[in-house]
Amino acid sequence: MGSTRFDPSGPLRGALRPPADKSISHRAALIAAMSEGESSIDGYLESADTRSTLAAIEALGATVESADATAPGDQIRIAGVGLQGAVSAAIDVGNAGTLLRLLPGWLAGQPGGTWKLDGDDSIRRRPVDRVADPLRMMGAGVSCRDERLPPLEIVGAPLRAIRYELPVASAQVKSCLLFAGLLAEGMTAIREPAPSRDHTERMLSAAGAEVEREGDLVTVRPASRLEAGHVVVPSDFSSAAFFLVGAAIVPGSELRLTGVGINPTRTGLLAILERMGAAVEVQASDRIGAEPVGVIAARFGELRGTEVGGEEVPLAIDELPLVALAACFAEGTTTIRDAAELRSKESDRIESVAAALAALGARVETAPDGMAIEGGGGLRGGVVDSHGDHRIAMMAALAGLASRDGVEVVGMDAAAVSYPGFEADLASLLEA
Ligand code: S3P
Repeated sequence: MGSTRFDPSGPLRGALRPPADKSISHRAALIAAMSEGESSIDGYLESADTRSTLAAIEALGATVESADATAPGDQIRIAGVGLQGAVSAAIDVGNAGTLLRLLPGWLAGQPGGTWKLDGDDSIRRRPVDRVADPLRMMGAGVSCRDERLPPLEIVGAPLRAIRYELPVASAQVKSCLLFAGLLAEGMTAIREPAPSRDHTERMLSAAGAEVEREGDLVTVRPASRLEAGHVVVPSDFSSAAFFLVGAAIVPGSELRLTGVGINPTRTGLLAILERMGAAVEVQASDRIGAEPVGVIAARFGELRGTEVGGEEVPLAIDELPLVALAACFAEGTTTIRDAAELRSKESDRIESVAAALAALGARVETAPDGMAIEGGGGLRGGVVDSHGDHRIAMMAALAGLASRDGVEVVGMDAAAVSYPGFEADLASLLEA
């Protein structure tokens, strides 16, 4: 496996539009496949994960057309199969956990069909009992390896609505059950222990489904048809986050990120960075379809440690590795708690983040549900293994720019899972 060096650098400057949102792209393709007739998606994310979703819906009978290989800003058109029209298939989800957890909800309610979902080595370590258990309660035939791991086999069946309390806040599990609820008899109700990203609710409502939220309860009623229509995908806050934190830790930085999704169920990092004393602000906001978007400005500043836990965790779940990186450059201690979910991501992100930062000279202590970082010393530099995890690879690249000796990232190619143009975009901010 090749390695890539990121040397201490000058400031990050200028403006950039990060790539399209991965969560929204997955959902847009799936809901278009469930819809009647043709839907179109503007700016579908071109990445390994979202390609897996297009291949999956094609295997299920949908057709996908794109003008130019789904280049950013491009439009793809999807002819759906309707809510009950997916054909039986074996599906390779690649590295895409969101596809692995969302798709079974739709398939489970289609009697007569059978499906098998499998993926790469990392996917085979990611728990699916969290979706298999409630889908079985709804009447679906679902089996998995060792009762909790992929491959996942689904035998479609008539479903009945349930009332389900999510044991942990997970937008993937919630979305899976919302899809199943569209095909179930009765009203499905899902209670979240804390709010998680709500793109599915917004997009299903826009497609004509009856989805409602009251407090921490989300309900969905059966639907006979959906029409996804035209969906425009904003830039991914989780991709923007690398540069926001980069600007906060590389002296002299000052940048603007445009067209970024600022759905409040995604932007927990902004509040955390503000508490740390970082200069980040949303400068302008607008709406694209069902989602709010904005321009986010960030500059270098002195940081101080903070505590992250409770309801803030799901709002910043994918950005917690970056909070840990920022913490290395902050005065005092930063603690991250209530985040045991990090252990079930593309890698065990409590161990992989702690190992990466410790290899660069940070003082990090792990806990079952998080970590504590003793800041103030910055980072020396060294070698980081991405463990095939895109977010660890990109976090380590930013660490290199802010370090004293530079960082060599082993497995930088993992970035292509969500952000194939990451290195080029980073270079453009360093040249500006
Ligand atoms: C996602 C939800 C999150 C997140 C993942 C994408 C989604 O997972 O970590 O990267 O698109 O729904 P959980 O909801 O399982 O925490």
